[in-house]
Amino acid sequence: MIEVIQGDITRLAVDAIVNAANRSLLGGGGVDGAIHRAAGPELLEFNRGLAGCSTGEARISPGFKLLTQWIIHTVGPVWYGGQKGESGLLESCYRNSFELALRHGVRNIAFPGISTGVYGYPKQAAAQIALSVMRTYDTQFQRIIACCFSEEDRRIYVDGLAAQGYE
Ligand code: APR
Repeated sequence: MIEVIQGDITRLAVDAIVNAANRSLLGGGGVDGAIHRAAGPELLEFNRGLAGCSTGEARISPGFKLLTQWIIHTVGPVWYGGQKGESGLLESCYRNSFELALRHGVRNIAFPGISTGVYGYPKQAAAQIALSVMRTYDTQFQRIIACCFSEEDRRIYVDGLAAQGYE
């Protein structure tokens, strides 16, 4: 079941939340900063041992002080105008996050809008990619949550699901 909510992903009690990280996995601003602040310093220590992550790939860590059991860190593409394979890399972020979640028995997973903040990916196009991958994994999870930070973002996802005739 795909659910669209507006809220702070660090507050969700799910099996896994997905982090919009950078290739160092050592924290940053936006949702990455919020997740590191809420998870505590053990997250940074753990991620130091992961040796980074390429764009489009995903790595997993415990949730530490967060309510979630797991944090799946994925690195979205920076938007350079759409001619540098950005859409394929963004799709890989969602697909690789789902595959990693399945390998860890995750049933309820929440995603932020990967790449739609600092990395500048247009929100509408990013939501279409996110929703299309979410729908292909829909039957393998109990809850797939699109956790939008703003009402505007939530609206984009709700309209996107409706346009795809999702019930
Ligand atoms: N909960 C849910 N969503 C959030 C939260 C939060 N607490 N904080 C921010 N967001 C939303 C933003 O509004 C945006 O829609 O997450 C989406 C992704 O934005 P960013 O966090 O800026 O991530 P991204 O665009 O992928 O850029 C990644 O930013 O923070 C750095 O270290 C990170 O270098 C990396 C880059």
